[in-house]
Amino acid sequence: MVPERLTTERFELRRFTRRDTDGLALAVRRSLPDLQLWLPWAHPGYDRDEAAAYVRDSTQSWREGRAFDFAIRPLDDDDGHIGNISIWQVTRMGRAGEIGYWIRSDRTGLGIATEVTARVMALGFERLGFHKINLRIAVGNKASERVAAKLGFTREGVLREELLIRGRWVDHTLYSILEHEWRTARTEAIRG
Ligand SMILES: CC(C)(COP(=O)(O)OP(=O)(O)OC[C@H]1O[C@@H](n2cnc3c(N)ncnc32)[C@H](O)[C@@H]1OP(=O)(O)O)[C@@H](O)C(=O)NCCC(=O)NCCS
Repeated sequence: MVPERLTTERFELRRFTRRDTDGLALAVRRSLPDLQLWLPWAHPGYDRDEAAAYVRDSTQSWREGRAFDFAIRPLDDDDGHIGNISIWQVTRMGRAGEIGYWIRSDRTGLGIATEVTARVMALGFERLGFHKINLRIAVGNKASERVAAKLGFTREGVLREELLIRGRWVDHTLYSILEHEWRTARTEAIRG
């Protein structure tokens, strides 16, 4: 069973419910100039209906064990919806998973993506039994590449024309981290 709520030092990560719809729609609309550069689903007409559809799909995927989407919220005050982070399995034989994330524009640069991704990596390796976790990052997305570097991911190579973003096929870099690399890094961090 995947826990419906995870915590980090500053945030809670919670499974989506219908109550999250308005906050999600607002956060997406406020962040559109940044999101639409890198995420295929983000577009200027994004509205409440799309947020509601996302919450419905997310609920269904969670029930079927296909993907686990979390709403990011602050622990100590209600600052609304901060962003999303998801983890899902990409290959069963290879026990590989993937993580995707976005952070509301007025909260970027505060270490949030790094903090919540570290928590979801632990979920992937410890609870979901993954051997490897991937990130696919659009070429040019320097902020996300920096998140990957801070978390110890290795660059594997370029996936050509991986996603269609605003009418243009965009190359992505595949980053990954293996379970033993993650455990070693964590042990070293604890030892200081
Ligand atoms: C990418 C994104 C998730 C990063 O979230 P965040 O909470 O700001 O990430 P963090 O604060 O943990 O780390 C960001 C790092 O990138 C750095 N950075 C930001 N913009 C940068 C740029 N243009 N060039 C180089 N580094 C940059 C920050 O300085 C920080 O590094 P530091 O801690 O060494 O200073 C967020 O910007 C976002 O949601 N972008 C739009 C959607 C997106 O790209 N999603 C990811 C798709 S793979």
